[in-house]
This record gives sequence, structure tokens and C-alpha cells, in this order.
Amino acid sequence: MYDKIRKAVELLKGSIHAIAFTGAGISTESNIPDFRGNQGLWRKFDPKMASKSYFKEDPDGFWNFYAQRYEAIAKAVPNEGHRVLAKLEEIGLLKYIVTQNIDRLHIKGGSKSVIELHGNILMSHCESCFSEKFTDECIEEFKKNGKAPRCKYCGDYMRPSVVLFEEPVRLIDLAMEIACRSDYCIVIGSSLVVYPAALIPEIVKRQGGRLVIVNLEPTPLDCIADVVINERASVVLKKILEFL
Ligand code: APR
Repeated sequence: MYDKIRKAVELLKGSIHAIAFTGAGISTESNIPDFRGNQGLWRKFDPKMASKSYFKEDPDGFWNFYAQRYEAIAKAVPNEGHRVLAKLEEIGLLKYIVTQNIDRLHIKGGSKSVIELHGNILMSHCESCFSEKFTDECIEEFKKNGKAPRCKYCGDYMRPSVVLFEEPVRLIDLAMEIACRSDYCIVIGSSLVVYPAALIPEIVKRQGGRLVIVNLEPTPLDCIADVVINERASVVLKKILEFL
């Protein structure tokens, strides 16, 4: 593993515009389950529960799913992996983080330039008039009466301001423009099976950049990566900082 980490560090130090692309795997060490790993959410729940059509069809069931997810996210704190990425940004080696995660742990961990392709779970909004409310408050309301929270202005249902399945991702144009400018991408904790998000590391590589993948399990982009490290994110990132 250490030879691979040394190679990842050498490529990083030789880069001019490096980015990180992260998925749920960087947050499992903060006790937030991922989706497709061996304890992943989609092994227990149907992914349709995170879809727009399910929210429309059964708002109470939708909020019941999110209330369970929210428990883990609300308690979570950034782990060593988040902190190392913030440090790499601070010393100028990392320009952006493009994340699929909605847990805001990169920001809490000190990173500044974070692009949240799937939004984040801090706020919720009304499906009709877009009035906003903290998701915390919506969850409390749901827990109190077991009913989906409603907008106090127009009475329609509130929903977390995250990207649901069947909705377009956010800032994808900006993320792609940044990927086109990057000559190094380190992927951390993503199965790289969800598009268009997974295009980001692919664009960096296909236009001549370097691709490093840190993931416990194989991914579809391993075959084009310069370095693949199948180890825990926090262990690898700590070593990357050490080997700089
Ligand atoms: N270190 C490294 N890799 C890890 C760790 C860890 N500590 N823990 C889990 N992993 C790996 C898993 O093996 C898995 O391959 O992280 C990967 C996480 O993959 P997914 O669960 O598919 O998560 P992600 O790639 O972020 O999913 C993308 O899918 O369901 C949607 O909106 C959801 O944003 C999510 C998107």
C-alpha cells in the first residue's frame, strides 16, 4: 500500500490543479452508512425511498426514511479523512472538493471550496412556495406527530433541500468546468456508479490528468486510474499527508 501512496503523493506534488471527488465512503468513519458498501443503506431500503416520486406518493413514508438517515448525519463529526483534505486545501495542494455527500462534513472539517452536487441536508423547503426551514425543525415536527411537515405559509409539504432521485444534480456545469481545468483527481469513498457525478473523475483522466482512487471496493474507473488503493480513506489520507 505504501508504494501506491507514495506514487499518489508524487503525482499530487507534480500537479498544478488538483481536486478531490468524494462519496459516502469518506463519511462511514463518521458513522454515516454508505449506500452500496457491505452495510450500505440500499441493502436495507429501496433506493426509491429517496426519489421525488416517492415523496409525492407517500410524504409520511418519505420523511420516516429521512428521519432515520438524519439521526446518523446530525450526530456525525468530521473524521481524519475530512480534516486531511481541508489541510491539503490550506497548503494549496487541493483546489476543490466535488462531493456527492449531503452531510456537510467537508465544510465542518474546515474545507472551503466544496461543490455539493447533491445539495446538503441543513435546510428543507416547501415544494410549492419554496419557503425554507431548518431540516432539524422538520424532523422534530415529524417525530412529534408522525406526519410529513408542512409549510406554515401555504400548507404544502416540506422536503429536504437535497437532490432526490429523478431530479437534476446541482452545479454540474461548474463541476465539469473545474474538472476540465484539473490535472489530478483523487476519488475517495465512491462506487463511481452514479452519473452524471461520476463523470467528474473521468473527465480529468480522459483529458490527460492523473486519477487516484481510494476505495475499499473495486470501481468501474479502476481500469483507467493511475493508482488504486483499496484501503480505508482516513488511513490512506493520513499517510498522504505524512509522505508529503
Ligand atoms: N474508506 C474507503 N472506502 C470506503 C469506506 C472507507 N472508510 N467506507 C466505504 N467505502 C466505499 C464502499 O466500499 C463503496 O464502494 O465507499 C463506496 C461508497 O459507495 P456508495 O455507497 O455507492 O456511495 P456513493 O458513491 O457516494 O453513491 C453516490 O448514490 O444513492 C446515491 O445520492 C446517493 O450520493 C449518493 C450516490
